[in-house]
Order: sequence, then structure tokens, then C-alpha cells
Amino acid sequence: MSTNKQVPQDKGLDNTLALLDEGYLFIKNRMNEYKSNIFETHLLGQKVICMSGEEAVKIFYDPDLFYRNGVAPKRVQKTLFGVGAIQSMDGDNHIHRKHLFMSLMTPSHQNELSKLTMSELEDSIKIWKNKDQIVLFDEVKIILCKVACNWAGVSLNESEVKELSEDLSSMVDSFGSIGPRHWKGRRARTKSEEWIKNIIEDVRSDKIKAKEGTALHSMAFYRDLNGNQLDSHMAAIELINVLRPIVAISTYITFLALALHEYPECKEKLLTGDSKELEMFVQEVRRYYPFTPFLGARVKKDFVWNKCEFKEGTLVMLDAYGINHDPKIWNNPDKFWPERFRDREYNPFDFIPQGGGDPSKGHRCPGEGITIEIMKTTLDFLINKIDYDVPNQNLSYSLSKIPTFPESGFIMSNIKEKY
Ligand code: HEM
Repeated sequence: MSTNKQVPQDKGLDNTLALLDEGYLFIKNRMNEYKSNIFETHLLGQKVICMSGEEAVKIFYDPDLFYRNGVAPKRVQKTLFGVGAIQSMDGDNHIHRKHLFMSLMTPSHQNELSKLTMSELEDSIKIWKNKDQIVLFDEVKIILCKVACNWAGVSLNESEVKELSEDLSSMVDSFGSIGPRHWKGRRARTKSEEWIKNIIEDVRSDKIKAKEGTALHSMAFYRDLNGNQLDSHMAAIELINVLRPIVAISTYITFLALALHEYPECKEKLLTGDSKELEMFVQEVRRYYPFTPFLGARVKKDFVWNKCEFKEGTLVMLDAYGINHDPKIWNNPDKFWPERFRDREYNPFDFIPQGGGDPSKGHRCPGEGITIEIMKTTLDFLINKIDYDVPNQNLSYSLSKIPTFPESGFIMSNIKEKY
């Protein structure tokens, strides 16, 4: 008898349509139905093992058991990641390139990005207070694009910043979709890669001076394990791999504003601007609201875990969203409650909004520190630097849309500076 007879088998010949329909809840719904933290399904004509829970995160991030090369579908590489980028590398080459990314995300970089963010937000008050209303998501996308380019050493004028911010966010918006939304993301990627590639070439030929230590300089002159520079197209893809996700923090910031609106009782503690209070709120936003749905990897060599036979080459999906709402990990997971983070010890495997494990040894996001600091700064700004009203609007977000965010983008009116 095959071992996998003991593992729940999803109904139906192929469940791709169910995945598109159920979105973030696709794995979680089945975990609940089968009362299991593992099941087998078929997606896009292939067998897929879906798993959830802290122990599943531990094996998923074991580089002896899983690899990433060729895992992300071409449609994701051509929009979200860029073809052949760090996300699809393995082994020593991956670790070497990962160190390049990690070297750009130290606490001093986080601090610099926070300061740039606060300064841009404060400058915006002058414009916002003269407008009837603003859409926070749209404003923050442009602000973070300016901040990211400034920090990375990429100098762009106002209209270029606006164009790039639209392109970078449509790369994120398009990866899980089909039709026009998807093609918009592909066109945006092709255009931005060409643009940034020219900048990299100008830096290499000294037409543009790039400051040492900036992301632009580091990507342009990084040498891989064999001592070779990245070709200029790949250097552009990797530079976009830091610019794009900084702009994507605008989604979390929209959820931050939504959380303040939905849970006003939390505001009082944030008024002190205390770093710990801000951090707890930010962490709860990253846990509670949907952003990363699932993560994928393929089995490197045959092994058995949880009575399930993992055959070499099989696609495995880890339920990132579900783990952030797992009742075995979180008390009352569907309650928004920042206090749960007050005395929580760091565990690399049980809270994975941006991946799990050790970022310097695996694929966990290197940008978590940057994300948290930029979110804390913006939260402090929303609470302590301005007053605003939240007019009637559609703030709902659909869990079947990947990625998702509040429909209205969070409209704010009557914005005033606090003195
Ligand atoms: C907007 C908030 C962010 C979210 C939700 C997010 C989420 C993620 C996730 C889920 C992964 C994949 C983990 C895995 O495959 O195991 C990842 C990887 C990555 N992220 Fe982020 N991220 C964010 C912000 C950032 C920032 C601010 C940066 C850089 C400035 C960044 C750079 C990267 C890079 C380069 C990778 C690839 C790492 C690798 O393959 O080794 N991310 N991110």
C-alpha cells in the first residue's frame, strides 16, 4: 500500500479553478475539512502536496529537502520576480547572492529608510491639507517609490517616479491574475527592466556616478562566486527586487490605516509613539491581514514526513496565510489583538508573513526589518502627526483575490497637521 493513501486526497481531477475561487483560503479550507495539516491535490495538471503548521515550516526551509529552481511558474517570474532572479536560485550561488541583499538591509539602512519615509510623509501634509480627499494607497506608492530610489541611489524626476511606482506596483498586482491585469504587469516589468538596465550600464561606464554602498552601486559591481559581474539585465532585475518590494509596503500601510479605523481602541497606546507599542501593532497587521498567500518549492530527494511520501520533483505548497491564522499557534487567531506580541519570543518557524527560517541561509525575505521600520514610521505619522476623517467608502477586501487590499485604497479627508 502506498504511504500516501494515509494522506487526504483532494476531491476532483484538478483544483486550479477552486484555487482561483477560494484564493487565500484554498489550503486552510481543506485543512479544516480533512482535519489534517497535509493533503494532496492537483493544480495545473500536476500533483501538489499542500502543508501547514510550524513543523511543516521547519522541513520546508531545510535546503537538503527542497529546491526552488524552476518552481515559480513563468507567469510569476515574468511579473513579480523577474526571470532567473534570486528567488529561483539554490545552494552556494543563492547564499552568495543573498549576502549581497542582506548587506543592503542592515539596521542602519532600515534607519535611513525610516527617516526618508517620515520626511516625505511630512512634506505631503502641505499638499494633502489642501485637497478634499486623498487615496492613501495611491499616495504611499509614490512616496515609497521616491524613498526607495533616493535610498538606492537611482535619481529620477517627479514624473519618472510616478511612472515607475505604477509599474512596480502592477508587477505585484498582476502575478496571481489572468487577462488584462496580468498583461499590464508583464509590460510594466519589461519596460522597467530596460530602463534600470540602461542606468546600470551608465554606472558601469561611469556616465552616472553611483555612491559606494548604495543598492545601485552594489548591484552594478557585485561579483558572483566565480568572480563574474551580473549581466546588466540581471543586475537590473535584482535592483528591481529591492525597489519593487519597498513600494509594495504600501499594501501593508493601507492595512495599517484600516486596522486603526477598525480597531480605534488600540489608538491610545500608540499616542505615546513608544517603539514597542508601534511594533506590536505592526506585527499584528502583518499577521492578521492577507498578503503572502502560499510559498512553493520542489522535493530535492525522496523522504517521508507525517506519513506522507515526498517524491523527488513533487511541487509542495506551504500555507503562509493559514499559518498566521493557525489556532495551534495563535490564541483566538481571528481576533485583531496586538498585545499577543508583547512577550512573544522570536521563532523563525511560526510567524511567516514574509517566509520562515534564517534569511541568510534560505529564501526568507531579507526585507522584513525594512518593512517593519517603514510601517512603524508610517503608523507613528498617522497617529501622531496628522488628524483626518475616514469618509464612507468600500473598505472590504476579498480573500479570493491574490494579492488583495481594501477596495477603496483607504480614502482620507479633512487632513490636518497635529501641533
Ligand atoms: C511588502 C512587504 C513584503 C512582503 C509581504 C514580502 C514577502 C516576501 C516573501 C513571502 C518572500 C519569499 C520567501 C520564500 O520564498 O521563502 C520574500 C522574498 C524576498 N523579499 Fe520580500 N517581502 C516584503 C518586503 C520586502 C522588502 C522591503 C525587500 C527589500 C527591500 C524584499 C526583498 C525580498 C527578496 C530579495 C526576496 C528573495 C529572497 C530569496 O529568494 O532568498 N522584500 N519576500
